[in-house]
Amino acid sequence: MEHLTLRTPDDWHLHLRDGAMLRAVLPWTAAHFARAIIMPNLVPPVVTGADAAAYRARILAALPDGAEFTPLMTLYLTEDTDPDDVAAAHESGLITAVKLYPAGATTNSASGVSDLAKVQGVLERMAEIGLPLCVHGEVTDPSVDIFDREAAFIDRVLDPLRRRLPDLRVVLEHITTSQGVDYVKAHDAGLGGTITTHHLVINRNHILAGGIRPHYYCLPVAKREEHRLALRAAATSGDARFFLGTDSAPHTDPAKLQPCGCAGCFTAPNTMPVLAHVFEEEIALDRLEAFASLNGPAFYGVAPNDGTLTLERGAPDLPPQIDTGDGAVTVFDPGFTPRWRVTARSAG
Ligand code: NCD
Ligand code: ZN
Repeated sequence: MEHLTLRTPDDWHLHLRDGAMLRAVLPWTAAHFARAIIMPNLVPPVVTGADAAAYRARILAALPDGAEFTPLMTLYLTEDTDPDDVAAAHESGLITAVKLYPAGATTNSASGVSDLAKVQGVLERMAEIGLPLCVHGEVTDPSVDIFDREAAFIDRVLDPLRRRLPDLRVVLEHITTSQGVDYVKAHDAGLGGTITTHHLVINRNHILAGGIRPHYYCLPVAKREEHRLALRAAATSGDARFFLGTDSAPHTDPAKLQPCGCAGCFTAPNTMPVLAHVFEEEIALDRLEAFASLNGPAFYGVAPNDGTLTLERGAPDLPPQIDTGDGAVTVFDPGFTPRWRVTARSAG
């Protein structure tokens, strides 16, 4: 097989940042993806409908001429979030989801939620109106080992939350463990799981063995090989509950390469080549479209894109870094040369 054509994919978990960084990274996503769920963890965060409307306008203004890309906005849930504001933003079509960051779990999560009881009213309202909650699934208890924080979150927070609010639609974002895969598989269509590009490729050895590699450091941190294999099996299974959320999270090299460096992998430019490579290795190229283009829309209750993206056999021609005006951002290095490159996108 020399060509691969699929419905234009969407990215159901993306960090675009703001200002010069936004202008530098957005074209890479808009080139291959028709829509993306935009994470709200700016400084200050995107908390209200008015914040989301203003951020959406900045994103649209930063799009290259002729780009066909729709940002799907999210609100950053805080303990002061007003249920009426959330409902109005949903009603007007402005937002697609609300994001739960446990306070302190990751980059710019300080304004997140410490006590879920304080957001019960918002969550009840979301369950009523069918607005999904995207969850950063890691406990923040410092006594829990960082490699166990996702599994602990499922037991301590996610499962009780879903029992309290069985009608709330939930996406367990960027799952990194077999426990995450198993939990999503054990439940119905009201629970989805996004999987990133990089967690299909790296395990924790890539970060730590033979020297420390800050560009592979992200949150949730990559786990043991057995977990990477569970994620590959889930992503390539065709199971509609699993879909692509790249978690492409650009930080400049100076911000990553320091004694306390930032978490995040910038995968927007090479996600589709890397995914095609991975799916071919798993003898599942015929399921790439489900993972990247069909399962996400089905979960969010929207139609898949009409257009198509075509990949051709051959190495992609991508820069190792992009310049942002704020500093260079390193493109995720999968450790192999992808066997596929993107060659065309049609509007459909
Ligand atoms: C994200 C970021 O930099 O905003 N970082 C990351 O490692 N994934 C935050 C997040 O999604 O946890
Ligand atoms: Zn993220």
